[in-house]
Amino acid sequence: MKILVIGNGAREHALVWKIAQSQRVKKIFALPGNAGTAGIAENINISVSDINSIVNKAAQLKADLVVVGPEAPLAAGLVDRMEAAGIPVFGPSQKAAQLESSKVFARDLMNKTGIPCASGQCFSTCSEATRYLENRTVPVVVKADGLAAGKGVIIATTTDEAVNALNSMLQDRIFGAAGERVIIEECLVGKEVSLLAFSDGKTAVPMVPACDYKRVFDNDKGPNTGGMGSYSPPGFFGEEMIRQVLESVIKPTIAAMAEAGTPYKGVLYTGLILTAKGPMVLEFNARFGDPETQAILPRLKTDLVDIMLAVVNGKLDKIKIEWNSNPCVGVVMSSGGYPGEYRTGFPITISDKIDKDINIFYAGAKMRNGGRIVTDGGRVLTVTATGSTMEDARDKVYRNIQHVNFEGCHHRKDIAAREVS
Ligand code: AMP
Ligand code: GLY
Repeated sequence: MKILVIGNGAREHALVWKIAQSQRVKKIFALPGNAGTAGIAENINISVSDINSIVNKAAQLKADLVVVGPEAPLAAGLVDRMEAAGIPVFGPSQKAAQLESSKVFARDLMNKTGIPCASGQCFSTCSEATRYLENRTVPVVVKADGLAAGKGVIIATTTDEAVNALNSMLQDRIFGAAGERVIIEECLVGKEVSLLAFSDGKTAVPMVPACDYKRVFDNDKGPNTGGMGSYSPPGFFGEEMIRQVLESVIKPTIAAMAEAGTPYKGVLYTGLILTAKGPMVLEFNARFGDPETQAILPRLKTDLVDIMLAVVNGKLDKIKIEWNSNPCVGVVMSSGGYPGEYRTGFPITISDKIDKDINIFYAGAKMRNGGRIVTDGGRVLTVTATGSTMEDARDKVYRNIQHVNFEGCHHRKDIAAREVS
């Protein structure tokens, strides 16, 4: 098979790496890909937002399967366009992807279906939203409806802060059309976990759970980022919890989408918070998570392409998905200054002392003329290790991360720390 993977993050490098292990695969293309995918796939220099060119390219390559990594092309209808062109594609349609691209859509579905989530309401004018705030206690959460590159959620600790967030979204339109509507909701407390599931529109099969770390510094200090590390599995989220979330969240969501005539195919990512009242949904994403994927895929034993084809062909009930019991820890190395200003173009060096079974999944890294890999973004790469225990995996990743270097590099030292202490 010829497989085309859309995206350029460490998530897509991990996808390409896993897909390359399939007996079915003859050739992989990454669009646009990065320095990591370049070693296993052929990179194609087209932007993920150029939907027309992507569809034309997939047709020209006669791709047997297209795998869509990031949310923006899903929300722009890439899957619908591929299907119209008769090209098999892994990912939800534009309508189904609304579970991620519109928080109002997701909340309406959860309310209608009785899926546990924070109480709250949707607003499109500042005056109504501000009036509603008068009767709420702080902290309170203000969310932009649409895609905002991970910046659309404000946890306001004072009413002033909440009003400022509302004004910046609804009036100043800092997120453009994504902020035409906002949600104000109660602030929940508890541990967070991501549970991703494969769905073919009828059947849903959960993956192993994972946790990610959003803040840039240890002990969850500093600004939010695209994710600084992840590990799988979290000890506090066992089989019984997975079953509970499958029954109370994932299955009802898949059923509601099918009933609405917009069956959900691909990966459904459920972001959960474990409150005193039980697990509640914080968000849905319509794709693999980043950096969760980098810690989840090394644990997958089943051929990923077999699973993806089962999803595309509506035969997920026919396949058994198996996981390795060994835990996995992934630590992101970022450019100094990220998520603020940072410089790029620094050579990345990897000492030959690094263990052979360590995975390095590249993100903001590109191949310079002459074959040298240099930094090219905020989050540069994820180093992952599996071990017989979480402690083992964690020791291994931190022992080996010392062998990866670039000027100004930064990483968190506490990924999975609470799991092993
Ligand atoms: P979202 O993009 O909706 O997942 O929100 C990003 C992050 O904001 C989540 O991972 C949580 O840490 C936090 N968050 C979102 N909604 C809530 C809520 N209702 N209560 C507390 N924290 C929240
Ligand atoms: N790890 C969060 C996300 O992928 O959106």
